[in-house]
Amino acid sequence: MRIIFLGPPGAGKGTQAKMLIDRYGIPQISTGDILRAAVKEGTPMGKKAKEYMDAGKLVPDEVVIGIMQDRLKEPDCSKGFILDGFPRTVAQAEALENMLKEMNMPIDKVLALDVPDEVLLERLTGRRTCKACGQMYHVKFDPPKSGGKCDKCGGELFQRDDDKEETIKNRLSVYHAQTAPLLDFYGKKDMVVKIDGTKAPDEIFKSLINVLERK
Ligand code: AP5
Repeated sequence: MRIIFLGPPGAGKGTQAKMLIDRYGIPQISTGDILRAAVKEGTPMGKKAKEYMDAGKLVPDEVVIGIMQDRLKEPDCSKGFILDGFPRTVAQAEALENMLKEMNMPIDKVLALDVPDEVLLERLTGRRTCKACGQMYHVKFDPPKSGGKCDKCGGELFQRDDDKEETIKNRLSVYHAQTAPLLDFYGKKDMVVKIDGTKAPDEIFKSLINVLERK
């Protein structure tokens, strides 16, 4: 199964992708996670990417396309994958199409999570993530049981640098200008299924499963 998750920042792409990994045993490929790892390691690419990420802008297409060209060749992608945060521009979508054509690995579905901007702002300002295992929480909607520690592994929770209100507003306008046109790009190919992303995570997950397992 090969899936693309589309949706604005905070729509729940990462939350749902992690639930799908458990069900289908395929990897989640998040360009955001790959870029944050490069920033943490202080690689030249990470240093360049950090400036864009901190400003809420997109990292240049050639950088992320290069990342994906390498990542999709990894053996764990042979059974399928969930793309979370890529593609984000029409140029990235066209590059992905060419890569997957060469590999004979067509996309099955584009799942678009629909959530209004005012809900997204509250979700992102309240997001907390485990440094050790990546589990996500929300201070109001899904708080950890024991203060600032992860319920799963006891790791320390942190707030992402780009989850500040001003940066979130920039990320949302970048989404509307550069990523939302992909709804049309994939819509014309009849690949998009829109899902109401305002419901509870378990309900959204059920809707996704219904779409993916509909015969
Ligand atoms: P990236 O890491 O991809 O961030 P994003 O797209 O902005 O998405 P998020 O991770 O913020 O949100 P999400 O939809 O995964 O929501 P989540 O499940 O975490 O990108 C970061 C940056 O990297 C970009 O700005 C850019 O600079 C760069 N970048 C990455 N990819 C790129 C690319 N392809 N091209 C160029 N640049 C790129 O949920 C959010 C919160 O809400 C959590 O606290 C969660 O607990 C809560 N929540 C989730 N679902 C629900 C629900 N149903 N109800 C209530 N709360 C919920």
